[in-house]
Amino acid sequence: MNKPLGATNKGLSASLDALAAYTNSHTFTLSPYAKNGLSPAAKRGRKLFASKQTKCAECHSGPFFTDSQSGKTSARHDVGTGNADKSETMGLSYDTPMLLGLYRSAPYLHHGTAATLQDVLTTQNKGDKHGTTSHLSPAEVNDLAEFLKSLPYELPEPLAADAGIIKVAN
Ligand code: HEC
Repeated sequence: MNKPLGATNKGLSASLDALAAYTNSHTFTLSPYAKNGLSPAAKRGRKLFASKQTKCAECHSGPFFTDSQSGKTSARHDVGTGNADKSETMGLSYDTPMLLGLYRSAPYLHHGTAATLQDVLTTQNKGDKHGTTSHLSPAEVNDLAEFLKSLPYELPEPLAADAGIIKVAN
């Protein structure tokens, strides 16, 4: 086996290949917060997410809102969330998670210390290491959270196919 997040392990274990094919067989449904498209608040949040000031889209990029891809080893980032537990074996850098389906996956961050999306952007990002959020007003933080809750507001699979992102299958 190769290192986690290192070179692909495809073809080395039939069981793990089957597990990967199974997890990749899931499809997405649109967020209930975006059934009628993005709300005005979510649209304002989308602008903030894409802005140069917040930098969110630098790591949370592409159809799955992550720069992590099979065979790519540079997607780990220290976003200041790794200090809570010294027993953690992964060190301080983490693979960027995708952001689809956040509306139903609280609590957030790898250790679950953020109860809400607002917490991810405020109390859990005091040093602006996880994007830049300290300049945002409380209303802007809520707009950004509203956008995050609306993901996915369009189905990612066709976008992924266009971008040449290929699923590991069978
Ligand atoms: C330098 C790369 C980088 C930038 C910039 C960045 N993120 Fe992240 N994001 C990460 C990583 C890595 C994690 C995983 C951290 C952890 O779990 O401790 C993460 C986790 C998250 C999570 C939690 C996901 C979950 O399922 O628990 C949310 C929400 C999030 N980011 C939103 C944002 C927003 C909004 C911005 C802009 C303000 C942003 N990120 C900027 C890399 C980044």
